Amino acid sequence: LQTPSAVFFIFGATGDLARRKLFPAIYSLYREGKLAEDFAVIGVARRPRTNEEFREDLHQSIIEFCRYKIGAEEDWNRFAEHFEYKSLDINNVAGFQELKEQTEVIETKYGIPGNRFFFLALAPELFGSVSLNLRAGGMMDGTGWNRLVIEKPFGYDLESARKLNAEINEVFKEDEIYRIDHYLGKEMVQNIEVIRFANAFFEPLWNNQHISNIQITLSETVGVEERGGYYDHSGALRDMGQNHMLQMLAMIAMEPPSRLLPEDIHDEKVKVLRSLRAYMTPEEVDKNVVRAQYGEGESKGKTLPGYRQEDKVDPASNTETYFAARLFVDNFRWSGVPFYIRTGKRLPVKTTEIIVEFKRTPTNVYLGQRHNLEPNLLVIRVNPMEGIYIKINAKKPGSDSEIQPLAMDFCQSCMIGINSPEAYESLIEDAAQGDSTYFTRWDEVSAAWSFIDHIADAWAQNPTDVKSYPAGSWGPDETHLLLQQDGYHWWPVN
Ligand code: BG6
Repeated sequence: LQTPSAVFFIFGATGDLARRKLFPAIYSLYREGKLAEDFAVIGVARRPRTNEEFREDLHQSIIEFCRYKIGAEEDWNRFAEHFEYKSLDINNVAGFQELKEQTEVIETKYGIPGNRFFFLALAPELFGSVSLNLRAGGMMDGTGWNRLVIEKPFGYDLESARKLNAEINEVFKEDEIYRIDHYLGKEMVQNIEVIRFANAFFEPLWNNQHISNIQITLSETVGVEERGGYYDHSGALRDMGQNHMLQMLAMIAMEPPSRLLPEDIHDEKVKVLRSLRAYMTPEEVDKNVVRAQYGEGESKGKTLPGYRQEDKVDPASNTETYFAARLFVDNFRWSGVPFYIRTGKRLPVKTTEIIVEFKRTPTNVYLGQRHNLEPNLLVIRVNPMEGIYIKINAKKPGSDSEIQPLAMDFCQSCMIGINSPEAYESLIEDAAQGDSTYFTRWDEVSAAWSFIDHIADAWAQNPTDVKSYPAGSWGPDETHLLLQQDGYHWWPVN
């Protein structure tokens, strides 16, 4: 199914997100025949650039970041000629009026029926004024649909998120807004739904009768790189917790929707987010959430700087680069089942894994002292490796009574010929099709913020109480206590 014919406006077209993710995604969609032949892209940014220079940027970005190689020159030119550039100051309506004229010319050229897709790869502080100027400049008066695609962070807390939303809502209706959480664009996060709802051996067990705990790990080896300025103000809880971690948790914990329609899925997810047990006092937060910052450390024989030595980071910063939490979804299905989540920078491996640990079988004949039976695990590997694996117990071959754990491993990303689309490809395609399933609806965003705000508020009362961990390690020791109090431990990730 091809996307409907539309003009894509990329605000922030000279920035990192456009270069690393958006241009390559558009090219991949084009190469796969998913993009309507009569599409156009107008890159918008402040810097002056000719169309030729812009197409050269585009070329470089595809060479560097796209999973498709550029084909023959003729094919390339046919693709690149759909791209134009417009330099404008986003605070100045006149520029938007010029943009409107340029748009009408390009729409006529390709016979595009007025569908406009506004992608804001900009700082969120600018979303409001860009939206207002789009309207003031007449950009919303086309004859087709208008859609707004925006990136995180969606606010700094509930209050600022509300304000941001109100600004955008002046111009765009909720069903025209596509808030990206790129984790929802990942193949294996989308697969959670299928694994759960299409398999007779998971869904019946998917509750507190059979699952003892769930662990979600999102570890990164990188530090803050060149984003110290943003990150020092944000920290791990806001950067990863409010969005990616809670979204994955919601996908794992939601009730089966009555239909697989975007609204039904959002309804179920928001119920999960609202059922999260809120930690209201600093004592509750202390007992259930650990925060830490990396200090100097070592990895593969190389010395790694501490967070406070990183570029654009306050040398006395107390910002957390790691957090782990023990959460509860207080509803019928999950009563009493802890969800442990952890994420951090400068950990030993880059991985995202969801581990579902099942309850042990009732006392049985194998529970003699010679056997150390392990619980069954279902592991969903989200990235960089994609796959699923199940750990079961089986008889050791050749022995009459010995039992060993055995892994049934499906590695999707190892299969030759499988080249999973990047998150941004499927998200751009979905938004162009008008499918908001894997975007976050406002009530999800706000429920996630209200949960996170309590933790952030408790932390703010005691700003220096941040644990430390050496860069390249698995975080502070306190993180183990979260699980030990329930008799569990973190399963090693791959
Ligand atoms: C982003 C965060 O949302 O996700 C970054 O702002 C983080 O800090 C990134 O590095 C991780 O994404 P991925 O897809 O590389 O795991």
